[in-house]
Amino acid sequence: MWFILYAFLALPLLVFAYFELSVAKKKRVLNKIKGPPTLPILGNAHQVGKSPAAILNTLFDWWYEYDKDNYRMWIGYNGNICVTNPKHLEVILNSITLIKKSGIYDLLNPWLGEGLLTSTGSKWHKHRKMITPAFHFNILQDFHQVMNENSTKFIKRLKKVSAGDSIIDFQDETHYLTLDVICDTAMGVTINAIEQRDTVEVVKAFKDMCYNINMRAFHPFKRSELLYRLAPDYPANVKTLKILQDFTNEIIEKRIEAHRTGIAKKTEDNEFSRKKMAFLDTLLSSTIDGRPLNQQEIYEEVSTFMFEGHDTTTSGVAYAAYLLSRFPEEQSVSFLRNSELSWAMRCIGMPHSRKSQR
Ligand code: HEM
Repeated sequence: MWFILYAFLALPLLVFAYFELSVAKKKRVLNKIKGPPTLPILGNAHQVGKSPAAILNTLFDWWYEYDKDNYRMWIGYNGNICVTNPKHLEVILNSITLIKKSGIYDLLNPWLGEGLLTSTGSKWHKHRKMITPAFHFNILQDFHQVMNENSTKFIKRLKKVSAGDSIIDFQDETHYLTLDVICDTAMGVTINAIEQRDTVEVVKAFKDMCYNINMRAFHPFKRSELLYRLAPDYPANVKTLKILQDFTNEIIEKRIEAHRTGIAKKTEDNEFSRKKMAFLDTLLSSTIDGRPLNQQEIYEEVSTFMFEGHDTTTSGVAYAAYLLSRFPEEQSVSFLRNSELSWAMRCIGMPHSRKSQR
């Protein structure tokens, strides 16, 4: 009886000692770099913030506090250095040995598997070589039409939601635009996120998954797949993951079938229109080591494009709009240049999209 009681009391201490010892060396090195004071077990996780916006603010506050230079922080037992010194960044970005990605990328694995972003070594090398033609200028030009159509819808939506004095979350709006563009260009399906927003199950799933991954990165326990299973939001995340996997796999399966039966080549205007399918088509007609890609490999690359292609561009578009709003003179110049350009294109009869070339 006493033994069980002692064991019960000693277990947390043993776990604590195990983690402390396993990071002791790392701590000695990292703690030479200045950074916020830490608590045992939590590190700085309790201070960092509970939303992406709050986290970003805290990271900037620390940057100011620590002389606008590099600083270290601990999220649980995960040590991080925020490298902000341009000279140090130059060394890291030019290095051919400092190329291992942060453990944060592991959070993407359940969703993206080993796609280009998360794979390494020979798998990455072979897949990278195989995918490069998908970025050929001629292929990218095919997507102008989709981008223009969705941008027009986006502007209409912005006019509607910003009517009067209403305040909108521009980045949130942009997310639906980029999601529509990437779904259409990477997989050839229209999900109409701009208009239908979170009412479409998969649109909400994309949003929830990206938010979840961001927040897990700053949680002291949720970085571990094992401990995350005990978290209250774990079941919802499993459901979200399944929605994304089913959505992508279903489209891949239909497309494989369309290729097999030849429908993809014969019809231009069905839901798998040839010109919209360059990325998935490239994958389906590619080989690695002399064999076609299997469904899991195709899933991994398509999902990676879906993630990489909408998360990054959302930030890019939102930040560009923010800068234009802060610098009205530059805004007028770019507006005039764009107007002149489209006027000149109309005058010389140049097409605005590939469709009009056909
Ligand atoms: C403003 C837009 C974008 C920015 C700032 C951006 C930035 C980046 C960065 C920094 C990486 C390297 C990440 C790493 O290795 O850890 C990367 C990789 C990647 N990006 Fe983008 N990206 C953008 C748009 C896109 C789009 C539109 C797509 C797809 C349609 C895409 C697909 C990829 C893929 C597949 C990788 C992995 C490449 C590899 O490791 O070989 N990105 N991107």
